[in-house]
Amino acid sequence: MVGTEHVEMIPVAKKEIWSAEVNGRPVEVLAPSNAILLDVLRDKVGTLGVKRGCDLGTCGCCTVMIDGTPRISCLCLAGQVEGTSIVTVEGLADGAHLAPIQSCFAEHGGSQCGFCTPGFLITAQALLNENNAPSDQEVAQAIEGNLCRCTGYQQIVESIQAAAAIHRGEVEPAAPASNPHPDPHPSGPEEPQMPPGHAR
Ligand code: FES
Ligand code: FES
Repeated sequence: MVGTEHVEMIPVAKKEIWSAEVNGRPVEVLAPSNAILLDVLRDKVGTLGVKRGCDLGTCGCCTVMIDGTPRISCLCLAGQVEGTSIVTVEGLADGAHLAPIQSCFAEHGGSQCGFCTPGFLITAQALLNENNAPSDQEVAQAIEGNLCRCTGYQQIVESIQAAAAIHRGEVEPAAPASNPHPDPHPSGPEEPQMPPGHAR
């Protein structure tokens, strides 16, 4: 009968404490129980280096390392990776000293507009952690889920091979930056509201 149809509203997910180790630091934030990892990392943890490209699992911009394995964070529920160790691009450098993979991308033109770069860096670092002498074909296979509109990929492969040479000890890493820029968002864009007794 017209006027009696009733569409059930989907209840708003309640907020829960989500915890993990992010870039070597224990993190506790309040997030909806159905939150996507990409949203939690960007909006709650403040790791804005994790980029939102397609939001569909096809570009690789949002790649983070979870317990050593690269995974796209836009298709991952935060609750599925609770308690894991997560590395974002912010966690690659050793303080003000860039990791070899970062300095090699800068030196060999592996980054142009830079939007895809955090995902490539995480994917490449995960590869080098497992294999510091990959063939070009193995590099291509590792980065096949990461899309770049700028570089044509050749410079990216060269950057990864240059970093691999540093990992093997065949080449000295670049001298560390002497005057690092401060992080413009050290605490994240939104301060989480924590219940009493819970530190951020
Ligand atoms: S934003 Fe996650 S794969 Fe594109
Ligand atoms: S450097 Fe611009 S999309 Fe890759």
